Amino acid sequence: MATKILTEHINVPGIETLAVYRKMGGYEAVEKAIKKMTPDEIVEEVKKAGVRGRGGAGFPMGMKWSFLAKPEGVPRYLVCNADESEPGTFKDHYLMKNLPHLLIEGMIVSSFALGANTSFIYVRGELLYVIDILEKAIAEAKAAGFLGKNILGSGYDLELVVQPGGGAYICGEETALLESLEGKRGNPRNKPPFPAVKGLYQCPTVVNNVESIATVSWIVNHGGDAYAAIGVGRSTGTKLISASGHINRPGVYEIELGVSVEDFIYADEWCGGIRPGHYLKAVVAGGSSVPILPAERILTTIAGEKRLMTYESLSDGGFVSGTMLGSGGFIAMDETVCIVRNTWNYARFYHHESCGQCSPCREGTGWMEKVLHRIEHGHGSMHDIDLLVDVAKKIEGNTICPLGDAAAWPVASAIRHFRDEFEWHITHPFEATQPGAVYRGELELV
Ligand SMILES: Cc1cc2nc3c(=O)[nH]c(=O)nc-3n(C[C@H](O)[C@H](O)[C@H](O)COP(=O)(O)O)c2cc1C
Repeated sequence: MATKILTEHINVPGIETLAVYRKMGGYEAVEKAIKKMTPDEIVEEVKKAGVRGRGGAGFPMGMKWSFLAKPEGVPRYLVCNADESEPGTFKDHYLMKNLPHLLIEGMIVSSFALGANTSFIYVRGELLYVIDILEKAIAEAKAAGFLGKNILGSGYDLELVVQPGGGAYICGEETALLESLEGKRGNPRNKPPFPAVKGLYQCPTVVNNVESIATVSWIVNHGGDAYAAIGVGRSTGTKLISASGHINRPGVYEIELGVSVEDFIYADEWCGGIRPGHYLKAVVAGGSSVPILPAERILTTIAGEKRLMTYESLSDGGFVSGTMLGSGGFIAMDETVCIVRNTWNYARFYHHESCGQCSPCREGTGWMEKVLHRIEHGHGSMHDIDLLVDVAKKIEGNTICPLGDAAAWPVASAIRHFRDEFEWHITHPFEATQPGAVYRGELELV
């Protein structure tokens, strides 16, 4: 039976209440951390665990914590990024609505470790009902003495503030989030300085994803070494995967990192295979912004090895034949999916969500949407395909924040792996624009 670090008790009736959560061992990590550990010892355990940020970039969490500046007399902040707006990713939503106390417990332990006395949970604004769930759980935790002044008689104070998000994908980028939290338009900041030095209100700040923070209680209870013993290599622990698309069992799964992609798609424990009578054509493994891969490439690497659900294995082959684990938004597509239409759809999203500060992103996302629209609608030329590659290249790496890369990668990878499908739209505009038309070509379906 696979280890469940986050979701072991998710189906226990009433687990969203403090009473039931406590019965399942909840808040033991707060007691242990505050009464028996020093902040530095907690940071050390998180470092040992090797847990990597679950918001997308996979930056080692303990290392981020140890970068936090600690000038005398200046407050420090912990901000939980619960903005979750990446198409295909819905695991933080699932965690917060079912296990609000798991996040709150993680916030208390993490805030104590970082020396923060006011911490924030910035929740995607559309999730109003989740905000209510969190507020209720915070009130319960406060009444029980786990929040507020003099927590468990230790002298440590912590206020937890839930902030509804600004309603834009870009507000999930950590510095845009901080701007938004300060009451301004959510535009990403130039870095350096990084938030660890100058973050919220120009004070040292750690920004971590919901899932990252939710793992901390388990690490405190069981130790960093026990966490690091799960998984493969530098991909330690478990990961929540939001599985969607043409699979038999869509949902959120907690996997031990290292499961093979093939098992994840076909085993009944997880996605349960592709819907009856259909075949896998392509996968977006880590949310809409990571490179799309065709079926045969997501299952095996160029070297012919089984691809695993780990940061390293998914990125094996770099941007030529690999992809990324990202935020774990796993979208499986069968042979009925038109890759051109899908790419155009993503491009529309990124164009709409670009904040407009950097010209390559502001202009380039618009160009890509326009050119993809004309290819999809039968007015494209062969030159358009190279134009798309060129525009994507000019956005990548040339913007203040990674939204530009996130917009460029889906387009560049779709052309890299499905160029014949783009060409077919141009050479067969009549067929390609019929309702439900999809290029079948020489694709390898599994
Ligand atoms: C456009 C954009 C949107 C993002 N949205 C989110 C988000 O909704 N949630 C999240 O945790 N990280 C998001 N990130 C990543 C954050 O900038 C940051 O890396 C993350 O919150 C750090 O937490 P972690 O180290 O625990 O992963 C986004 C990044 C970009 C560029």
